[in-house]
Amino acid sequence: MKITNEKVLVIGSTGEIGTSLIQYLDKKGYETIGTSRKSNHQKNIKQFDLNDKEYSFDFKKFDVCIVLGSVAKILRCEESPEETRKINVTNTIRLIKKCLEENTYVIFLSTNCVFSGEKGFYKVSDKVCPMNNYGKFKAEVEDFLFQYPKNTVCVLRITKVISESTPLIREWKLKLDKNQDIFAFSDKYISPITLQQVNDAIHRIIRNKRMKLCHLGGKEEVSYLSLAKTYFSSHKNSKRNIKQILFEPKKGNNSRIHSSLETFLPREPLE
Ligand SMILES: NC(=O)c1ccc[n+]([C@@H]2O[C@H](COP(=O)([O-])OP(=O)(O)OC[C@H]3O[C@@H](n4cnc5c(N)ncnc54)[C@H](OP(=O)(O)O)[C@@H]3O)[C@@H](O)[C@H]2O)c1
Repeated sequence: MKITNEKVLVIGSTGEIGTSLIQYLDKKGYETIGTSRKSNHQKNIKQFDLNDKEYSFDFKKFDVCIVLGSVAKILRCEESPEETRKINVTNTIRLIKKCLEENTYVIFLSTNCVFSGEKGFYKVSDKVCPMNNYGKFKAEVEDFLFQYPKNTVCVLRITKVISESTPLIREWKLKLDKNQDIFAFSDKYISPITLQQVNDAIHRIIRNKRMKLCHLGGKEEVSYLSLAKTYFSSHKNSKRNIKQILFEPKKGNNSRIHSSLETFLPREPLE
């Protein structure tokens, strides 16, 4: 059933979240266009790179722009800080400015990495304290967005999405299929969420358009080790091949690095 005729631009629609989101929004009746750096022949995917000097979009045509496109790898942001800051901060802000000039509502996907992870279940009122470049870059864009009125922008911080297309899950599965060991941290915790939860949250935000900062996190924190054991519980090699390692060996098994958020979302109905 069509419930909207809003036009939505999804920047970075070919990744883990974008691929699922664009199908979801289509089903909800939004008119969606996605982007990828690669030129392909899919009708609703346009070629776009945050490094482009000029934009080929007429942003006026879109009611909403969802900014997913970024370098989403923590390690790459540490190894190439200048190159990744240009994409994740400078060029992202340039794109967002353009959207706002054309009155296009902006939703920016951020992360629990804007917090240090010293404690669990951060609230929207907690002060950010990023420990890596990936988190620092997200916090810089957030700061820029917070200058704008709440009916023009929304930052959605989410915890780790776990799905069959999550790179770590795919890598683990390949290894287990080949009867190889996988090593999972027992002292590093995540708070997994599903793609469905992310899609529903974004749909609620679009319908609401009155909250500047939202959080979506899982109900509980689990270690990577326990995630691996649960996710692959029915895999024939799981008992033999899932091995425990420590993220912070010097601190021993009693330390915990948290990665959770207290969920804070609009309560708009989904239909
Ligand atoms: N997945 C999670 O657990 C998670 C958690 C917290 C926050 N987030 C945030 O949510 C967003 C989406 O995450 P994801 O997991 O879907 O990421 P992903 O799988 O790595 O996908 C990234 C997307 O960004 C696009 N992209 C990369 N570089 C770009 C550039 N220079 N210009 C334009 N587009 C570019 C990619 O498109 P092409 O390669 O086709 O160009 C792809 O569609 C990211 O901003 C991420 O930081 C994700």
